[in-house]
Amino acid sequence: MSDTLAATDRLSALMERGTDFLGSKVAILCGAMSWVSERHLVSAVSNAGGFGLIACGAMTPDLLEKEIIATKALTDKPFGVNLITMHPMIFDLIAVCNRHDVGHIVLAGGLPPRGSIEAIKANGAKVICFAPALSLAKKLHRSGVDALVIEGMEAGGHIGPVATGVLAQEILPSMATELPIFIAGGIGHGEAIAAYLEMGAAGVQLGTRFACATESIAHPNFKKAFFRASARDAVSSVQIDPRLPVIPVRALKNAGTEAFTAKQREVAQKLDEGAVDMGAAQLEIEHYWAGALRKAVIDGDIENGSLMAGQSVGMVTKEEPVAEIIEILVSETRAALERRAA
Ligand SMILES: Cc1cc2nc3c(=O)[nH]c(=O)nc-3n(C[C@H](O)[C@H](O)[C@H](O)COP(=O)(O)O)c2cc1C
Repeated sequence: MSDTLAATDRLSALMERGTDFLGSKVAILCGAMSWVSERHLVSAVSNAGGFGLIACGAMTPDLLEKEIIATKALTDKPFGVNLITMHPMIFDLIAVCNRHDVGHIVLAGGLPPRGSIEAIKANGAKVICFAPALSLAKKLHRSGVDALVIEGMEAGGHIGPVATGVLAQEILPSMATELPIFIAGGIGHGEAIAAYLEMGAAGVQLGTRFACATESIAHPNFKKAFFRASARDAVSSVQIDPRLPVIPVRALKNAGTEAFTAKQREVAQKLDEGAVDMGAAQLEIEHYWAGALRKAVIDGDIENGSLMAGQSVGMVTKEEPVAEIIEILVSETRAALERRAA
């Protein structure tokens, strides 16, 4: 058998659990990105053999329904929906997904609310959750979650405090045999995909690498900012008031980064004055991010909007069709496996 053929077999074998679980050709998910992951990008990813995810974000059930229907019109391949757990209409959103037989639902932004896993599984759909620590990975597995995403702090958007490589070492050795685990955060090259697959991951999830694909509706200014940036430009937001815990967000540094500091002061003051409680304060911060991201992605305001991007942004250098990005990642992974086997 030639080395290339052997590496192809090895890649298929390493990804098999992921592809069986997702129903896709390769176990590469395009992580949901608010405003970016809509019908065009999602269908392009699934059509190219990966697995696309609609970012529901703050959409109403009606809007989500329209997006699912529109995505189905563009692909007959499987795709999923990412729901934010703190959405006030989460159960209505699950009902919409069930009505349209969405096969995979990702619950993001916190632990799944009571009854949500059961509501999803009642329709036969698979539940995927984020595991930010080994103890939570075990808890989520016991709660009936079907697969996990481990996302490190190198990722774009909302992040946890721990690096991908550390989470992978902590969680994969004991949990990878229990359920499929997908690795996210900081992946921009097949070399890393090969490494995580060999550690026991079922597949990977990338966001930053796909944000500037030809099929992405992100504004040309947003894409240009990505092409110019290097890893060190993608910085984490800073919490300025210890009484107001905010989930850090990784984004390219710009004037919007400073505006977020001012926003935190404003919300902290409202908290001090008793004008809002902690839940409302945190929700206000989340609404701020959604608006700021929209400003950059849709309006192209790359100075004041939020340019959420992961540290892998330095590996995003030009606009490419999704199919090409996936092809490159797969051939890099195969080449890495080949080298390791030699
Ligand atoms: C612009 C942008 C928006 C994002 N929005 C969301 C979101 O709405 N929900 C979510 O679960 N993850 C979101 N993410 C995280 C991605 O789904 C994915 O997990 C992450 O980008 C993977 O790490 P990477 O950026 O290093 O590839 C976002 C990421 C980016 C870059």
